Amino acid sequence: MAASAAAATRLSGGGVALLLLALLAAGTSTSSAQLSTGFYSHSCPGVHDAVRSVLQAAIAREQRMGASILRLFFHDCFVQGCDASLLLDDTPSFQGEKMAKPNNGSVRGFEVIDAIKSAVDKACPGVVSCADILAIAARDSVVTLGGPNWDVKLGRRDSRTASFSGANNNIPPPTSGLANLTSLFAAQGLSQKDMVALSGAHTIGQARCTNFRAHVYNDTNIDGAFARARRSVCPAAASSGSGGDNNLAPLDLQTPTVFENDYYRNLVCRKGLLHSDQELFNGAATDAQVQAYVSSQSAFFADFVAGMVKMGDISPLTGSSGEIRKNCRRIN
Ligand code: HEM
Ligand SMILES: *[C@@H]1O[C@H](CO)[C@@H](O)[C@H](O)[C@H]1NC(C)=O
Ligand SMILES: *[C@@H]1O[C@H](CO)[C@@H](O)[C@H](O)[C@H]1NC(C)=O
Ligand SMILES: *[C@@H]1O[C@H](CO)[C@@H](O)[C@H](O)[C@H]1NC(C)=O
Repeated sequence: MAASAAAATRLSGGGVALLLLALLAAGTSTSSAQLSTGFYSHSCPGVHDAVRSVLQAAIAREQRMGASILRLFFHDCFVQGCDASLLLDDTPSFQGEKMAKPNNGSVRGFEVIDAIKSAVDKACPGVVSCADILAIAARDSVVTLGGPNWDVKLGRRDSRTASFSGANNNIPPPTSGLANLTSLFAAQGLSQKDMVALSGAHTIGQARCTNFRAHVYNDTNIDGAFARARRSVCPAAASSGSGGDNNLAPLDLQTPTVFENDYYRNLVCRKGLLHSDQELFNGAATDAQVQAYVSSQSAFFADFVAGMVKMGDISPLTGSSGEIRKNCRRIN
């Protein structure tokens, strides 16, 4: 506010009027931002079929892809909202989010999003945003791997900006303790309950040794046999070049391609792969929620869906804000 007031004093009368209009428009588009499940029902009724068929083929080729796409949605939404900012490639004159610490060498699935965008644009050219494609693809990934279904709210538009620092600061690192996990989700308007439910996404997918090394070597809140097994695929000190940093282990040790409540069963047995995972069951307030999801998969599914809908509502660009990208990797 202080900054915009200062800017206003530097402008002439006409400039001030324009600035006020711009502020008003910005206020309107964020405060009355309304996403709706039927947003494309007239302009692109085929959007859901187009997304699903390309995504299911990709998951049939490689089951992990469902996990990778779900994670893309999370990493997009936590950085200036669900606006496809994560999808933008770096260029010599543009710094995107892909090289930020939580993403570099880790996020994957962009070529699948490109293929979905092509299929969707074949059905209805120039209508559907990359941000909405990501939201639908994340839901379809969960469904395809056996998880719950829900209606995805749509109407997001694509950003013309990205935030490297936002990606570094907003996305929790796997070294986070419970308090930091909770506060990083709170910063996005998500409760601790949402955080515990959304973490159940780690019932699918893989993590790299660099992200679980300290937990399996140095933490005490971990099952001994499990820690030993994970150390065997994750050398203590990564040797240069072919070092084990990128060696993979499943986030859910039983079924990393099936979306169910096993993640929470692992936590109760102190077999969470990441330090941050095990923090959810470590003798604190969230233990009861973890136990509740072990007892009731349907309770987990209901809360996960509620969390996904809330996460999908983070700061969407709507109305005439942003754009509908032609290519998800670059601004028009
Ligand atoms: C609660 C805080 C969270 C932390 C600290 C965290 C951290 C991580 C880390 C370190 C990895 C492994 C990355 C790698 O080694 O390359 C990972 C993978 C993954 N995360 Fe999270 N995550 C969190 C929450 C979430 C949420 C909310 C979702 C989605 C709703 C999610 C979905 C995934 C998925 C599906 C994978 C596997 C991706 C793949 O196999 O390609 N995570 N996460
Ligand atoms: C991204 O990862 C690569 C490969 O590990 C590394 O060389 C590069 O410096 C990293 N980039 C940033 C911005 O950290
Ligand atoms: C947790 O938050 C505290 C306080 O903001 C900060 O000093 C600390 O570095 C954070 N730790 C991690 C692992 O994020
Ligand atoms: C474990 O902790 C010790 C002592 O802080 C440290 O020197 C070592 O590098 C840590 N090992 C791993 C794998 O994090």
